[in-house]
Amino acid sequence: MIIFNQEKSTFHLKTAKTSYIMKIFDSGHLFHLYWGNSLNTNNLDYSIPRQNWYKELEKNYDTNEFQLEFYPQEFPGYGATDLRSPIIELEFADGSSTTDFKYVKHKIYSGKHKLDGLPATYTENDSEAQTLEITLSDTIKNIDAILSFTVFDNYNAITRSVKLINKSNHNIKIQRILSASLDFKESNFEILHLSGAWARECHIERMPLRKGTQSIESRRGASSHSQNPFIALVKPDVTENYGEVYAMSLVYSGNFLANIEVDMYYSCRMQIGINPFDFTWLLKPNSTFQTPEAVLVYSNDGITGMSHTYQNLYAKRLIRGNWRDKARPILINNWEATYFDFDEVKIKKIAQEASNFGIELFVLDDGWFGQRNSDDCSLGDWFVNENKLHGGLKKLVDDINSMGLKFGLWFEPEMICPVSELYKKHPDWCLHVKGRKRSTARHQLVLDLSRKDVCEYIIDSVSTILSNANIEYVKWDMNRNMNEIGSDLLAPENQREVAHRYILGLYYILEKITQKFPNILFESCASGGGRFDPGMLYYMPQTWTSDNTDAIERLKIQYGTSIVYPNIAMGCHVSAVPNHQVSRITPFSTRGIAAMCGNFGYELDLTKLNNQEKEQAKAQIKFYKMIRNLIQFGDFYRLQSPFNSNEVAWSFVAKDKSEAIVSFFRVLAQPNHPQVTIRAVGLEKNSIYQDERTGLTYGGDELMSVGINIPDDIFQGAIYDSLSNKVLFAGMTNNSIKGDYSSFIWHFIKIK
Ligand code: DGJ
Repeated sequence: MIIFNQEKSTFHLKTAKTSYIMKIFDSGHLFHLYWGNSLNTNNLDYSIPRQNWYKELEKNYDTNEFQLEFYPQEFPGYGATDLRSPIIELEFADGSSTTDFKYVKHKIYSGKHKLDGLPATYTENDSEAQTLEITLSDTIKNIDAILSFTVFDNYNAITRSVKLINKSNHNIKIQRILSASLDFKESNFEILHLSGAWARECHIERMPLRKGTQSIESRRGASSHSQNPFIALVKPDVTENYGEVYAMSLVYSGNFLANIEVDMYYSCRMQIGINPFDFTWLLKPNSTFQTPEAVLVYSNDGITGMSHTYQNLYAKRLIRGNWRDKARPILINNWEATYFDFDEVKIKKIAQEASNFGIELFVLDDGWFGQRNSDDCSLGDWFVNENKLHGGLKKLVDDINSMGLKFGLWFEPEMICPVSELYKKHPDWCLHVKGRKRSTARHQLVLDLSRKDVCEYIIDSVSTILSNANIEYVKWDMNRNMNEIGSDLLAPENQREVAHRYILGLYYILEKITQKFPNILFESCASGGGRFDPGMLYYMPQTWTSDNTDAIERLKIQYGTSIVYPNIAMGCHVSAVPNHQVSRITPFSTRGIAAMCGNFGYELDLTKLNNQEKEQAKAQIKFYKMIRNLIQFGDFYRLQSPFNSNEVAWSFVAKDKSEAIVSFFRVLAQPNHPQVTIRAVGLEKNSIYQDERTGLTYGGDELMSVGINIPDDIFQGAIYDSLSNKVLFAGMTNNSIKGDYSSFIWHFIKIK
């Protein structure tokens, strides 16, 4: 709901649990008054700092002594008495850069408009949300900024974006235009963010906020493995289930900046948007620039409250299409099973075994096209390698379909190898700077998606493959970041637009292809989670979480990813041991339980499993099918963090509380361990739940207040497969590596 109070000139953006209040100040500037628990009032004039001082000294706000720097703002420009980090920085034709935006008008409407060319959250009907558009103007330079705020009442989220309109007769250079900026009167916070690297995505970082500027960013051309486009300010006492959290997440897949500045008065400014680094945009007269959308979430229920808001909003009002509400298939992917070394015979053997096990989808990964028998050639040549797949792709797909499996295919469409037919024809189609070398990474260059002809080539070549066989899933990979960023078709003054134009080109391609093939399940990937961001989720409802398939490494990666993203968006697979990324040997059962944290699958040669592993795989698949809806559509609770403990636990609870999963992992064996108890959360305290495996019953209150005892054998080093209820390794092996990495999973069903 959005309430405009004319007398007080305030906008009250109210969700079920939160309030966000702004005021058009006497000076015409838009001030930020409040963000937090829901309020009944919006009469917060008293909360504006230092106004008496001005009133008494100067009597009005028009004097040259008026200092914007003392006030909490929504759209801070640069140069006009606020010298903190601006949301906008422009260079005008006369070389000046001072801006001062003041209120002109506003409108409020039901629902939400689409953002031009950009992914964004959406409404299904107008009653779900209201939008406020406030027009601010710098009248000296004749430029308008339309700030859009959408209030999702029941999701407790507010989205923000900015559209800039050049109404002058001169070109304007945009040096910086972020999506959201707001000021807090205090700075007693800690920063929470998700940081990582290839194979180490989304590790949770939390650190005190210091005086000065602190930021996370990507300059890599993709949102990146290094930092996720998300930042939160949390009160120092915040835990998973307690305390105040203020968060921003950016619906964008390219270079971003999330910036916090603690100023000399100990107030702090929080911002997020496109990274101004190596970015300028030439805004011609009568043209507009639309920023990506920032999603703002306040929680008074700790980090879990924030995560649930993001997860619910992103699962239902960011992810789109036919697969949004559908259970996702259990898959087998051949990458770690075969790498490039396969032919149709090998592939069909794995597929047949998968079908015997009850797996539902076979995914043919890299290596099926061009001359691609290693990673040094052929990206761009999207035609089937019939020397490898004798009989062609359609025949293989039909054969796999006749085994009762869907078929999925891997592409890396944004890339071009210098050794490829495409590069011979179009050496100018990659990003490059004339006269400089073209640095390859994984033997590939990045196609120049700022060019329309390149985008159309990708749409056509991918569509041709997808139209010629019954392909029901696509893994859309992207395996390097950008260097030597430049485009042949743009003028010198537009060259620093390329990184953003690339992302706009990518979104154009994704929109076209996903609309053309609405029944295909698309999964995005960027060497694992290198572009696990809200922008990609708008087009592709799931993402390959990490190339690291080691179960123990995955505990941290999946735990961290869940801070913002819904579990239904995470691809999680059981792989072979020793693990291919870290060489660790973990029990098959632990690998299974760790992978049952999202979209479950296997990524190993199933024909090489021993009999015990085959039985375990079948039990895992059967079990996952039983709990799939709970995992994919339930609420996720983080119970015990892998970042500060040898024991890790998480839980899924059905939205209607009718069932729950609790998973527990013990990383390193420890002798004589005290009894460990895990307390469930999110259940109905007056209901009775039955342990599906043992038949024992517990009150919801008992499970939440007393907790579940972790069976002692796993502390003695035993490996227990809680799915088949068998002790696989007897234990009593203190100091033995075989006893490490045990795990347990419980399934509780409400019986009354
Ligand atoms: C990187 C991906 O993350 C892997 O899963 C796999 O698809 C390879 N690329 C294939 O080259």
